[in-house]
Amino acid sequence: MSSPILALAGVTKSIDTGTHRVDILRGIDLEIRPGEFVAIMGASGSGKSTLLGLLAGLDSPTMGTIQLDGEDIARLAEDRLADIRGRKIGFVFQSYQLIPTLTAEENVLLPAELAGENGRDTLDRARALLDRVGLSERRDHYPVQLSGGEQQRVALARAFMRRPPLLLADEPTGNLDSTNGRQVLELLLNLNRDEHTTLVLVTHDRELAGYASRIITLKDGLIVSDERPGTPA
Ligand SMILES: Nc1ncnc2c1ncn2[C@@H]1O[C@H](COP(=O)(O)OP(=O)(O)OP(=O)(O)O)[C@@H](O)[C@H]1O
Ligand SMILES: [Mg+2]
Repeated sequence: MSSPILALAGVTKSIDTGTHRVDILRGIDLEIRPGEFVAIMGASGSGKSTLLGLLAGLDSPTMGTIQLDGEDIARLAEDRLADIRGRKIGFVFQSYQLIPTLTAEENVLLPAELAGENGRDTLDRARALLDRVGLSERRDHYPVQLSGGEQQRVALARAFMRRPPLLLADEPTGNLDSTNGRQVLELLLNLNRDEHTTLVLVTHDRELAGYASRIITLKDGLIVSDERPGTPA
């Protein structure tokens, strides 16, 4: 069996609000293997986004270890972490998070440019990804000139730009109507399959989670179930 791309042990996250302590994650042990598609479900406030932020190295745990390809990202200095994030992790957020002053194409190119990649291959890849998400004609448009579904498709192209082995998505269809949501989802799943990415997706949508190879449910900061639909018991 391949070694895990992500391995969490004893991960907790508590926040001191000044008057009291909030225990958001209370001891998460989890291993995710390359190529898995994991859906994270659970009620609002159960800790899903907090967990995803930790997996992304955007936030650090109070206790525990988070190994990405065997390296504990919970204890890394910011510059090293930023480098790992740039090479290994793509993100898609519910609220798209495009840079408003950059065109669609410039947004897709940004992760590569931040890494000092700006050759012809880079531009070709950005254009191929925009084509893939059906937005070739819109590459010079700014985010305000794009619909929500279009903005999220640009965000998908951007997330895949540097071929990250791990893609993290927090309710990527949460702001979209069902038609646009379905289109974004299909693109996400197709890109994930073609690029051989490990996908961790937070969702409230049971139907969407049904596409996952594994469904993890959080409750009050703990994993209360870890199922593999379609695998015989
Ligand atoms: N900075 C913070 N300070 C205090 N409490 C926080 C902070 N960030 C998150 N929380 C609390 O931690 C809990 C988990 O938050 P989180 O955003 O991870 O939930 P979630 O499962 O993603 O919920 P949703 O489905 O609504 O997005 C919530 O009760 C939230 O209020
Ligand atoms: Mg959330």
